[in-house]
Amino acid sequence: MAGTRLALSGRVLSRDCRPIAGARLDFWQADASGTYDNAGYRLRGNQTTGSDGRFALVTVVPGEYPGRTEHIHVKVQHAGTGTLTTQLYFPGVSKNQQDSIFDARLLLKIEPSESGLAATYDFVLDA
Ligand SMILES: [Fe+2]
Repeated sequence: MAGTRLALSGRVLSRDCRPIAGARLDFWQADASGTYDNAGYRLRGNQTTGSDGRFALVTVVPGEYPGRTEHIHVKVQHAGTGTLTTQLYFPGVSKNQQDSIFDARLLLKIEPSESGLAATYDFVLDA
């Protein structure tokens, strides 16, 4: 797939920083040119955390599309805490400031890696 390879990982934690097992994360995003696959499931998938609360996926950096800065959609579901539906953003993107729903609290931490970029984010659920 064209684009910059992005390894995204992190944890799902409770408010007191305990790992949450059995949290389901559903990710979806546009491709590097800002296009969603609205017919199939390309660049959409889900996974469930194990006892360490960790998740990890490999994808590409999404492109911008009209009105939106670069972002990855994510839904985090866990029994007893309801569903968190949110988006993750990329630091240093000039269009962030023009996107009306951009939120700096949702910025990924990004470092270069041998194969592209490595990004991390920890979700905290009200558990
Ligand atoms: Fe989107």
